[in-house]
Amino acid sequence: MADNAAVAQAIARHHAEMVQQLSTLTEQLTHVIRHGDAWQDVRDQIQGYADRELLPHAAAEESTLYARGRDDATLIPLIESLLAEHRALRRWRNRLVEALDAAEALLAAGALRALFTEHAGKEESWLLPGLVRRDVDLETALGAMRSALAGS
Ligand SMILES: [Fe+2]
Ligand SMILES: [Fe+2]
Repeated sequence: MADNAAVAQAIARHHAEMVQQLSTLTEQLTHVIRHGDAWQDVRDQIQGYADRELLPHAAAEESTLYARGRDDATLIPLIESLLAEHRALRRWRNRLVEALDAAEALLAAGALRALFTEHAGKEESWLLPGLVRRDVDLETALGAMRSALAGS
């Protein structure tokens, strides 16, 4: 049986890396805008990061961790709310891409960062312990997530 606590820690570490990267990029965007420099390159980097890391991570969770959690009726409202946040992340990513000026880009980047930070915390505080309580083998779930990511 996998060490579920260690797997939950690995997921939390990955979340922390993503939060850190989003924060760094959002600070860079703030910096270039404040100095009146071109902002589009940093915006493109944030979009690239969302497309390479954040959104594939969200999609992989939906087909693995969330799917397993649905076996427990008490977890369904939580999973529905997490799914709504994934949809909101995708909408903010699109708002970022469609930004017509620096203000719109910064609004979208800030929203993406804030939402992802709270969302990841919710998964760590509520979803992962809920899955552990049901004896879901997180190691297998994480392996399935990695396979889903490799195939994306
Ligand atoms: Fe998520
Ligand atoms: Fe996550």
